Amino acid sequence: MRLQNRVALITGGAKGIGRGCVERFLAEGARVAAVDIDVAAGNRLVEELKGKGELVFFECNVGKRPAVENAVAQTVKHFGQIDILVNNAGINRPNDFLKMPEEDFDLVIQTNLKSVFLFGQAVGRHMVERGKGGAIVNMASTSVIITMGNIAAYAASKGGISSITKAMALNLAPHGIRVNAVGPGTIITELTKRLMDDPVQSKKIMSRTPLGRFGTPADVAAVIFFLASDDAAYVTGQTIYIDGGRTGMNYTVPGSD
Ligand SMILES: NC(=O)c1ccc[n+]([C@@H]2O[C@H](COP(=O)([O-])OP(=O)(O)OC[C@H]3O[C@@H](n4cnc5c(N)ncnc54)[C@H](O)[C@@H]3O)[C@@H](O)[C@H]2O)c1
Repeated sequence: MRLQNRVALITGGAKGIGRGCVERFLAEGARVAAVDIDVAAGNRLVEELKGKGELVFFECNVGKRPAVENAVAQTVKHFGQIDILVNNAGINRPNDFLKMPEEDFDLVIQTNLKSVFLFGQAVGRHMVERGKGGAIVNMASTSVIITMGNIAAYAASKGGISSITKAMALNLAPHGIRVNAVGPGTIITELTKRLMDDPVQSKKIMSRTPLGRFGTPADVAAVIFFLASDDAAYVTGQTIYIDGGRTGMNYTVPGSD
């Protein structure tokens, strides 16, 4: 219960890694506002986690300023404060670089990267005004350092998230607000289901995963919890990779079967 008396706002909290964070933060005693564009999944979340702690759900498209400001205002109205922001919501639109529609590029950047800017500003202003500091954790990916040719927009968004994390950390440090990012490898969620269901892809991924298994939302939530907690009081501006060892491999390391 190390997050007692803290309020956390978690974006993309209805499913996958975001939901893993909601569950972990509730278990640690935090009061949680989950925001998501998927209202049915949000309502399911609240129903399924009844009795696990104080949880509210707000509908929000994280790429749109009015929706973001509304979600932050609703959370402050409901809980009175926000101590922790987890900018987790994200999408991918894989495609050959030369075939990628401009609309897909814009949507991925807006959903993954601009949302970090919008929520970072809205919650950051609240934290500064309140004067009690805070912790922000942004969702990057191993795509910051190693990537694939068919996810140009996604890789650009995640590289941007790692960079904006450093700038936010520097600017917000005088206010006692720490800002870090996490970079997961391959985690079992809806986003990656199509890879796991394909034995050829799945084998390829395992050949580049020294720990020999896919990650789980709980694996990622554990590190996000650490970065949000006082145990990480002297950590800011970092991107921590949760990838089963993948980014440690260079091209001379043979992949296993
Ligand atoms: N699963 C992985 O292997 C993996 C690896 C690295 C990084 N990530 C990152 O983790 C984050 C969560 O991914 P996931 O795997 O849990 O995916 P997911 O699809 O299971 O969950 C993403 C959540 O974000 C929500 N969302 C999407 N667009 C939104 C919008 N515009 N506004 C509000 N909510 C929106 C979805 O409804 C969903 O609930 C993403 O940022 C993703 O890039 C995932």
